[in-house]
Amino acid sequence: MDWTRGYVTDMGYTYGYYGELNPQRARLALLNAGLACPEVTTACELGFGQGLSANIHAAASGVQWYATDFNPVQASFAQTLASASGAKLRLFDDAFEAFCARTDLPDFDFIGLHGIWSWISNANRAVIVDFLRRKLKVGGVLYISYNTLPGWGTFAPMRKLMAQHAEVMSAPGAGRETRINGAIEFIDRFSALNPVFLRANPQVAERMEKLKNLSRNYLAHEYFNADWEPMYFSDLHDHLSQAKLNYACSANLMESVDVVNLTPSQIEFLSQIPHVAMRETMRDFIGNLQFRRDYWVKGSHKLDRSGLRDALGAMRVVLHSPPDSIALTIKTPVGEATLSETVYKPFIQALADHKPHSLGEISQVLSKAGIDASQLIQCAILLVSMNHLSVAQEASAVSQAAKTANALNLQMMQMARSNDDIHELASPVTGGGFSANRFIQLFLLARQQGQKTPRQWAEFAWRHIKEYGQSILKEGKALQGEEENLAELTALAEQFEQKQLPLYKALQIA
Ligand SMILES: C[S@@+](CC[C@H](N)C(=O)[O-])C[C@H]1O[C@@H](n2cnc3c(N)ncnc32)[C@H](O)[C@@H]1O
Repeated sequence: MDWTRGYVTDMGYTYGYYGELNPQRARLALLNAGLACPEVTTACELGFGQGLSANIHAAASGVQWYATDFNPVQASFAQTLASASGAKLRLFDDAFEAFCARTDLPDFDFIGLHGIWSWISNANRAVIVDFLRRKLKVGGVLYISYNTLPGWGTFAPMRKLMAQHAEVMSAPGAGRETRINGAIEFIDRFSALNPVFLRANPQVAERMEKLKNLSRNYLAHEYFNADWEPMYFSDLHDHLSQAKLNYACSANLMESVDVVNLTPSQIEFLSQIPHVAMRETMRDFIGNLQFRRDYWVKGSHKLDRSGLRDALGAMRVVLHSPPDSIALTIKTPVGEATLSETVYKPFIQALADHKPHSLGEISQVLSKAGIDASQLIQCAILLVSMNHLSVAQEASAVSQAAKTANALNLQMMQMARSNDDIHELASPVTGGGFSANRFIQLFLLARQQGQKTPRQWAEFAWRHIKEYGQSILKEGKALQGEEENLAELTALAEQFEQKQLPLYKALQIA
């Protein structure tokens, strides 16, 4: 039988990084839910795509990672990064069935799968559930994301049409991109007929318009696999119960704070549903969620009050946005929420030196201003979800990871000389990724090679961009000639030096 089993393998996946796979993030989310989190020493990622998350998490922490993805082109790319970093990471190109049957794997404290569950067969889902049952330690954490019902209810028929068109209406041998474009054109022609389906579901046409602009690589993997099944939370719950897993909390930290996502009467309605599967399913109906990211635990247990206070007090966090750039008004599913200045301003101020501080230390400072522990953890959760703050590792773990994180970053920055695929670098402080666009990576590389001024960093970047016949885009237009390109790059490098470099230094990326 064909090894791909109908999965798209002729177009590489995007180079995404997912912070939810960082066990440090899981620790914060679990503690926020009052739950114990194990110390993670062994971790596993199933279906790693291009392997950016697995590489970053292994290189930026002391955790021993194992991971598999059956696409050998992707596995080979991921292995290139792993050999450059020398991190504790074993990467395989095994299909799930073969990987999960291996006898040379340890038991895991953390297993993660992002963007996998909805795109595989029922047989593969059973393989994964069995793996979780056997190989996730008691107390271990699962991170899983998946396409959710009812959110996909109205668009699922369109995905069916597109996948079917690509399969039966394209010329045999037509490339994947041609088939995707053909399917989109077909839907366009169908939509022009003013069909009752579209009139009954007006948001479908709007969503179809947005879809047209997405990268074909992304579309290939999201919509054109043989297997594609969105699921109700309660059905996922039935699957994972077989592996003795309990639902812990959302890994989407913004979604885990009810007061910013739900109205008071919605909170009240949900609080009256003691059955977790029913409650979470109703939450998805209220929010019409299309994608869930969650943490599950094998045998989760609530910490007692002093255990929770100690664990939270010891947790270190680091601020990685300039304090004055942090907006306290956020968009939420129920409108807008304005975060309290009297709570958030002092919290942000206590972290303004961009060094890791424990929540216990911050609590001592802020208790004088009447800010209590529950407000403190909500600050941490929302600022992490807004990407201004991260959990920081223990100081010993930071120094242990510095060498492998630097080696991985060097490899990725060298790749940025010729392409714009990767937009992330590894921080030994957070054990995770931190966003860095191609220009920033080239400026950092120039700096590492001894170039001192923003002008020199810009010249270095321009040399590499020019070498591949590329130029800088400004407001959607390609800049013309050396002078225009260099002027723009120099302005970007100056801005980088003033505003962003201190943050990269704080995260030990620069
Ligand atoms: C939608 S992509 C997600 C990749 C990655 N987790 C991410 O989010 O960037 C799904 C990945 O699963 C891999 N995959 C699909 N079926 C598989 C199987 N049976 N065994 C191993 N890997 C598989 C694919 O090659 C692909 O890289």
